Amino acid sequence: MTALLEARQLRKTFRRWGVSVRAVEDASLAIAPGEALALVGASGSGKSTLARLLVRLLDADGGTLLWEGQDVTHARGAARRALWRGVQMIFQSPEGSFDPQYTLGESLAETARLRGAGRKEAEEAAAAMLRRCGLSTDLLRRYPREVSGGQCQRAAAARALLSRPKLLLCDEATSALDVTAAADLIDLLSRLQEEEGLAVLFISHDLGAAAALCRRGLVMDRGRIAEEAPMKELLRSPRSEAARRLAAARLPAGQKEAKEGRRSSGADGDERECPSFGGGRAQSGVSFLQSWRR
Ligand SMILES: Nc1ncnc2c1ncn2[C@@H]1O[C@H](COP(=O)(O)OP(=O)(O)O)[C@@H](O)[C@H]1O
Ligand SMILES: [Mg+2]
Repeated sequence: MTALLEARQLRKTFRRWGVSVRAVEDASLAIAPGEALALVGASGSGKSTLARLLVRLLDADGGTLLWEGQDVTHARGAARRALWRGVQMIFQSPEGSFDPQYTLGESLAETARLRGAGRKEAEEAAAAMLRRCGLSTDLLRRYPREVSGGQCQRAAAARALLSRPKLLLCDEATSALDVTAAADLIDLLSRLQEEEGLAVLFISHDLGAAAALCRRGLVMDRGRIAEEAPMKELLRSPRSEAARRLAAARLPAGQKEAKEGRRSSGADGDERECPSFGGGRAQSGVSFLQSWRR
């Protein structure tokens, strides 16, 4: 099957004031139609830069980008528009995705109108999509500052969906939310993926949130893809150092201290062998997301 989006060895180096930062190095990935794929990594590992390369908000220094099998690495005009129509993004900051001067209804209707809907039709589409995303249509009259972060983020998803994308790219979309609002958003994404065949690239530093939505994940470390594995394996037996650090970061505080204590006392420092490593996950906040979803 042709991948929906495929990247081959993308590279990006930022140069500023004589300093170079290799933000992305030879990153390759493929997302199948309707797949939910996770891209996880610590802060600064290059996830957002790779995301921007994938949607051509930023041009790569090297490598190839294919959208539905078409080379769009340097595409302009219609081919680039096809990519931009097919992919929508939601970001970390809920309010940041909306213009504060407009009500959510105005912002959503504007997106529908850009897709060719007339005024009344656009308003109806905005209301229907808000409901589809589990929100009351009362929110249409409110400004972004007048709704909660979780509601705002679901409204951002609703707006993205009004463009009828094939791929939704979520860059740390749950990171600013509390655990319940994050679970609601993940549940919504999961529903859209299963019921509407929407592909999702879920970018996060949080392995548990990623595992609640995605079967397969890529781990990014210093600009490179360090590991690709089923999310279950990334949680249970991460191979790369980067994935192990992310998995260890999920331990509840008490167990983390216990593990560190064992390490400094000269006991086996390998997380894969450490019994509290496996046990810790069962109680952690994010595994709640997993059980909550199933
Ligand atoms: N516009 C930019 N100019 C210079 N350096 C940048 C720019 N954007 C990102 N970087 C650097 O690239 C690296 C990767 O950043 P980023 O892609 O934002 O990582 P992540 O999303 O994983 O936190 C970091 O070292 C960051 O400082
Ligand atoms: Mg980022």
